[in-house]
Amino acid sequence: MSNYHIKHLEEYYQVYRKSVSEPENFWEEIAEEHFMWRKKWDKVLSWDFSKPEIKWFEGAKLNITENCIDRHLATRGQKTAIIFEPNDPKEAAEHITYNHLHKRVNQFANVLKSQGVKKGDRVCVYLPMIPELAISVLACARIGAIHSVVFAGFSATALSTRINDSDCKIVITSDGSYRGAKTIDLKGIVDEALESCEGVASVLVVKRIHSDIHMESGRDHWLQPLLDGASTACDPEIMDAEDPLFILYTSGSTGKPKGMVHTTAGYMVYTAYTFKNVFQYKENDVYWCTADIGWITGHSYIVYGPLANGATTVMFEGVPSYPDFGRFWEVVEKHKVTQFYTAPTAIRALAKQGMGFVEKYDLTSLKVLGSVGEPINEGAWHWYNDNIGKKKSPIVDTWWQTETGGIMITPIPFVTPTKPTYATLPFIGIQPTLMDENGKEITGNQVEGRLCIIFPWPSMARTIWGNHQRYKDTYFSAYENKYFTGDGALRDEVGYYRITGRVDDVIIVSGHNLGTATIEDAVNEHPAVAESAIVGFPHDIKGNALYGYVILKDTGESRDQNNLRKEINQIITEHIGPIAKLDKIQFTSGLPKTRSGKIMRRILRKIAHKDTSNLGDTSTLLNPEVLKDIMENVP
Ligand code: WT7
Repeated sequence: MSNYHIKHLEEYYQVYRKSVSEPENFWEEIAEEHFMWRKKWDKVLSWDFSKPEIKWFEGAKLNITENCIDRHLATRGQKTAIIFEPNDPKEAAEHITYNHLHKRVNQFANVLKSQGVKKGDRVCVYLPMIPELAISVLACARIGAIHSVVFAGFSATALSTRINDSDCKIVITSDGSYRGAKTIDLKGIVDEALESCEGVASVLVVKRIHSDIHMESGRDHWLQPLLDGASTACDPEIMDAEDPLFILYTSGSTGKPKGMVHTTAGYMVYTAYTFKNVFQYKENDVYWCTADIGWITGHSYIVYGPLANGATTVMFEGVPSYPDFGRFWEVVEKHKVTQFYTAPTAIRALAKQGMGFVEKYDLTSLKVLGSVGEPINEGAWHWYNDNIGKKKSPIVDTWWQTETGGIMITPIPFVTPTKPTYATLPFIGIQPTLMDENGKEITGNQVEGRLCIIFPWPSMARTIWGNHQRYKDTYFSAYENKYFTGDGALRDEVGYYRITGRVDDVIIVSGHNLGTATIEDAVNEHPAVAESAIVGFPHDIKGNALYGYVILKDTGESRDQNNLRKEINQIITEHIGPIAKLDKIQFTSGLPKTRSGKIMRRILRKIAHKDTSNLGDTSTLLNPEVLKDIMENVP
């Protein structure tokens, strides 16, 4: 019998040891006993981090939707798979059973087929958090199409870049979306994006806000009539274990976003197994992850992980502040949520509102609390633990990444003793290590370094779409034979890990991963801007906020700086989305550079952090005189 469900600490250590000493046997048993295969694998694992090439369950045949839906029908057909909680609390929640989900996914899959979508084609999904988002993702997987979900807060430019990068032939969107008291014209954004996407032949449009929108004849189709005419039966496409399941874009420290490619079997096994253990999911629990399916958290822990376990998963369309700051707790009470998984930025924003909103609701259904996306600071951890968990629901601080597909370092609730701000121990099968800047492995405890993983795990991304070299350069070149995460971490006296934050040019703002280079490219589009450098600085709610140093072109004219600030943020909103707006913009005559012309961000970061007492070694600067100017003009 495999250890699918870990229940106490000794068992964790025992299973962990097995998972690292005989990983193939370990994962084979999990895969064999808990999933549905059309054909078993020929080989559990083959890997070579120098290429890099990673294959799990090679030779196996399966369809992930059979595992997430069909196999539950006999025993859980009437069970709720998805609870949809709308933006407006007055609109009724929708309970979608496994039977119902099966029909809706099949109909959607048949509509995709009728639009000419075939196995291996890329489908862009640009939808708000409505049931059709989960259903369209599953419909793609049903027919072997590769979904590429783009978070519906991204701008038209960001959307078109992603559509073109992976040659999507079809886009699924809605007329618009609700966001608190506002509506957003999603279809208008798609229309704008498609002006520069020649490969898109059709657009399927879900009616959500009933706005009056433009429908391009021959290209745009309302979804509902097509669904109404589609059969509720659709045989699943039989996929190879290593066939791509989806592409999901994440920011890089340089260049355009990276389309991380996740494949089928390993991703399924790992997300299902982590979901079961990290949330200690039991048959009648109601699990709620507040993330958006536009991010990896939603892919793995709203859709695939929960459904593979036959769980009930909540999809929330709204925001934590609408109609007021009690909304999360109202939803917990209403649906008797047992596991609640959110981001530190939301916890900090809610903590700031005081206890009035919390006390109004009955939170006694809660058993496990989760945190993800950025380091959780001590204050937020205690507020969450004391006031939401009432010191009875353990907090699982889960560290992972778009690239890792699933949770990597985390406590297992009721198993691993928690420690504020610590993600604690590696999950089963995960072998982390810390490296120093010179490429040496740091052994022992009470140490700090750069977090790497030395052995493959089933749900790791296999490549970057269309750019395998970049995959190798970004993740496997910093340290030989190791996956480099981009994060710093410390390991305490008992071997618990605490993630200290990014060590590269990625900044996590409100749990969103933003690359400085992409934002700088947007800022530099402003006709008055000559050059710019973006760094992060601490912010009480967002974790980090963005600070831009901007050099203006010398045109001889004087310009209103506040107007320029607005225009620069407008350009960022158009190129990326409002999440990437700069909180502070400082106009400067120069940027500190090394003799080779590289911007010394370390110094700019210190100035943004108001930590100018020790700027470190500035002797190698090409232009040390600019520092005085920058420090004297901090806004
Ligand atoms: C980066 C990955 C994993 C899903 C959401 C974000 C940071 C994530 C934690 C945590 C400290 C965390 C890291 C990581 N991060 N979780 N529990 N503690 N930092 O996915 O957008 O790919 O971002 O988020 O810096 O590298 P992502």
